[in-house]
Amino acid sequence: MLKDKILCLKKQKNAVILAHYYTIPEVQDIADFVGDSLALSQQAAKTQADIILFAGVHFMAETAKILNPTKKVLLPSLDAGCSLADSCPPDEFANFLKNHPNHTVLSYINCSASIKMLSDIIVTSGNALKIVNSLPQNEPIVFAPDRNLGAYINETTHRKMILWNGACHVHDQLTAEQIFTLKKQHPEAKVLAHPECKGTVLALADFVGSTAAMLNFTSTDPDHAYIIATETGILYEMKKKNPSKQFYVVNAFDSCNCNDCEFMKQNTLTKILSALESEQPEILLDNNTMEKAKKPILKMLELS
Ligand code: 13P
Ligand code: SF4
Repeated sequence: MLKDKILCLKKQKNAVILAHYYTIPEVQDIADFVGDSLALSQQAAKTQADIILFAGVHFMAETAKILNPTKKVLLPSLDAGCSLADSCPPDEFANFLKNHPNHTVLSYINCSASIKMLSDIIVTSGNALKIVNSLPQNEPIVFAPDRNLGAYINETTHRKMILWNGACHVHDQLTAEQIFTLKKQHPEAKVLAHPECKGTVLALADFVGSTAAMLNFTSTDPDHAYIIATETGILYEMKKKNPSKQFYVVNAFDSCNCNDCEFMKQNTLTKILSALESEQPEILLDNNTMEKAKKPILKMLELS
């Protein structure tokens, strides 16, 4: 069986499998650790394994490599990119920064290593508010690449960060109308949304948070019904932890899996086995990139 072969090879090669909550259930089942971006970067920073197989997307594996330059980091499919990271091309961002000198550059972890090199501090959806609140109220800040998360941070922390105009195609397509429709059908359900959603969606949410924060909310909240505005992969862990609760996922269109992040779903058991066997595709970065990109990530880990 695929699963047994993966587990055997993983042990033989002293590899660790880190998986994001958005990956398919079979992948979450064989992972050593499943988490949100923050927890995964924390795990990557402390692993003793020789090989890190990242069942996630490219920027996550890159972050693991930056934190572990001497380890082998594998990403089962190099096509597992991220529309949000792609919405911030490094040369355009460098020009943008020239127009905003003397600003602290805060970047969401969903960005390429080249953007991280241009940043002062990295944040995730799990620690963004805490990190921004730790900075002086009047500190001039540029925030990239997610305009929705940036606007949410601005509103919540009463800041005027200058925002890069990027977005995630999965979250940005969700609308207030879709929430109203589900709310009509399930008026008892609380609305939970990821901060990558538009402000009009977040305004309707009872709770806004990272994937791990949403999971924690549904596990500790006394209610029993939730409308979930994020990627569908999160439902696997949510239902597992709360078998008696009801979850209604906000779907951009009826009868399709439009909330599936096609990049996260590239991580299949077949590709994971092949990556472990061949130790390819490997994430490789030059030393200068790793050194420069590491600083803002370490700053984040220190402030988290
Ligand atoms: P989290 O920070 O909640 O893990 O989100 C990562 C992500 O890619 C959301 O689209
Ligand atoms: Fe990127 Fe969006 Fe997929 Fe998250 S859900 S990995 S932000 S494309």
